[in-house]
Amino acid sequence: MSNSSSFNKFLLLAFADTRELQLLHFSLCLGIYLAVLLGNGLVITAVACDHHLHTPMYSFLLNLSVLDLGSISTTVPKSMANSLWDTRAISYSGCAAQVFFSVFLFAAEFYLLTVMAYDRFVAICRPLHYGTIMGSRACVKMAAAAWGTAFLNALLHTANTFSIPLCQGNVVEQFFCEIPQILKLSCSDSYLREVGLLVFSACLGFGCFIFIVLSYMQIFTAVLRIPSESGRRKAFSTCLPHLAVVSLFVSTGLFAYLKPPFFSLPALDLVLAVLYTVVPPAVNPLIYSMRNKELKDGLNKLIQLVLFQQQ
Ligand SMILES: *[C@@H]1O[C@H](CO)[C@@H](O)[C@H](O)[C@H]1NC(C)=O
Repeated sequence: MSNSSSFNKFLLLAFADTRELQLLHFSLCLGIYLAVLLGNGLVITAVACDHHLHTPMYSFLLNLSVLDLGSISTTVPKSMANSLWDTRAISYSGCAAQVFFSVFLFAAEFYLLTVMAYDRFVAICRPLHYGTIMGSRACVKMAAAAWGTAFLNALLHTANTFSIPLCQGNVVEQFFCEIPQILKLSCSDSYLREVGLLVFSACLGFGCFIFIVLSYMQIFTAVLRIPSESGRRKAFSTCLPHLAVVSLFVSTGLFAYLKPPFFSLPALDLVLAVLYTVVPPAVNPLIYSMRNKELKDGLNKLIQLVLFQQQ
């Protein structure tokens, strides 16, 4: 093996070695990918087209669906294409792009979930001030802060990871390029700087997590004090889906990044990666639309509009 990163491509994990299994993997991924496109596409169209849904909560939901679409598009299509063309290669710049976009979209999603927790906190605990605190300029600023911080985060990690000399070959044991797998290829202990950065990002993420937990504790105490049963149910129906999405996201992400390194079974890494890259984008639209009457009404109107115009 040469002593520096002189190669110009990486090899990703192949899901299958026989042709039949490769095609099976391709069609399964295609099915999931199309379902995610459809689900998030419907949420985006419903929110964009229905002016009843032009509120902070739904515009953040729109942001979330856009991020979900982006995050699944950075990993799954490349893996599908590799199965189809029977190859494992990804170019050096393709790998860097995958690392950049997956960190960017993953972090932006998490910061946005923090903003959404704050939105629910203000709506339920400070209802009289909701209009002034969550004005449209404030919302745009909060969304921009989430996207901007995530962008800087991703830039920092990508630049740092890809400046580390690699001398353990170019085989990435994952179906897309992720930072821990690239660090495994580094020479001696030059990866420690990136580990330090990861710890810093993790602390930032932990701060957001504490913020989300505190917001929800206040929300629940406030909701339980609402005297009427129907009022309680309405308040819960807008925050439980959000809490479900946060828990799903945090638990899969934590598991993938914070599991002890010596516990690194390739099969486990793979399952975790599928959990945190594919599951949140696939189930977010379901979780949000399941018990949400406004969103369902919006979708119904959209469907009627489409059918009506075709007649
Ligand atoms: C994200 O949310 C902000 C704030 O509500 C909104 O102005 C913006 O249009 C949204 N962007 C996308 C891409 O959904």
